[in-house]
Amino acid sequence: MNLTGKNFLKLLDFSGEEIEYLVDYAAMLKEQKKTGIEHKLCKGKNIALIFEKTSTRTRCAFEVAAYDLGMNVTYLDPSASQIGNKESIADTARVLGRMYDGIEYRGFEQERVEILAESAGVPVWNGLTNESHPTQILADFLTIKEHFGTLTGKKLVFMGDSRYNMGNSLMVGCAKMGMHFVACAPKKYFPSNELVDKCKEIAKQTGAVLEFIEDPMTATKNADVIYTDVWVSMGEPESVWEERIKDLTPYQVNDKLMENAGEKCVFMHCLPAFHDLNTVIGRKIHEKYGITSMEVTDSVFESKASIVFKEAENRMHTIKAVMAATL
Ligand code: CP
Ligand code: NVA
Repeated sequence: MNLTGKNFLKLLDFSGEEIEYLVDYAAMLKEQKKTGIEHKLCKGKNIALIFEKTSTRTRCAFEVAAYDLGMNVTYLDPSASQIGNKESIADTARVLGRMYDGIEYRGFEQERVEILAESAGVPVWNGLTNESHPTQILADFLTIKEHFGTLTGKKLVFMGDSRYNMGNSLMVGCAKMGMHFVACAPKKYFPSNELVDKCKEIAKQTGAVLEFIEDPMTATKNADVIYTDVWVSMGEPESVWEERIKDLTPYQVNDKLMENAGEKCVFMHCLPAFHDLNTVIGRKIHEKYGITSMEVTDSVFESKASIVFKEAENRMHTIKAVMAATL
């Protein structure tokens, strides 16, 4: 498998074999790290991290992974770069491509990271756009593989807004890996017909099953993984909160749903999650709407079935694999 020089922009650009290779490569790098085996595979290289939206996990995962690989890092925060305002994305790409060996980009439209990649001349990695979050899916798949031993045939139910980055990318990933993907939400939150059609074509080759179900109990029966994400994503206007709370409250991941899925079912979430009142936004929403948790109850989040922190750790190992493989 040779991925040298390749961008990592969306999972649609990769075959199932390539995705599995990256997941297994990450597992190997994780094992090396745990046993203290140094792996400075990219010694002396320099990378730039552009964040037009905020981050905890993705930024830290890229930085720690880069240091473990022997690289140097420059972080450009949402207010510190001229990108798009004073200088076009293509011009910025041509500048950074002459200084850095690889560039991570987190921002708004997918088109922006695609333009960056066209002009940079070095590998570009998507750290989240409105449409996709491919490095997150690698971490999710590593976590599922560690837990169940395989990805093939596993049933993953995504509860909530499946039109956005997480729902889209999980659907593509599951289609590529021959998994059983269920989007569970009111119809208007299902992924676009265009993306669903692409995934159905992929599923014909891989044996994946794709379903779109409005009833939570039907959708989650026998699920191996119940997955959810925040109801309002970064960059969306505050005005959508009211509608989302009304529409998605019946899709909250709670004990009843987990019990309905069965004992083997695990809970996953890309994080950050609104499961209690220990956040500023969580408290604001509580004051206005009276709810104490949103997409997941505190009881599920803190339960034995919840593997969210293992999943968060795996962001680092999988991002490391992506960088080592493409540089
Ligand atoms: N899951 C994830 O991408 O987290 P951050 O927004 O903290 O990077
Ligand atoms: N859908 C969320 C994912 C965060 C990792 C967002 O875009 O804010």
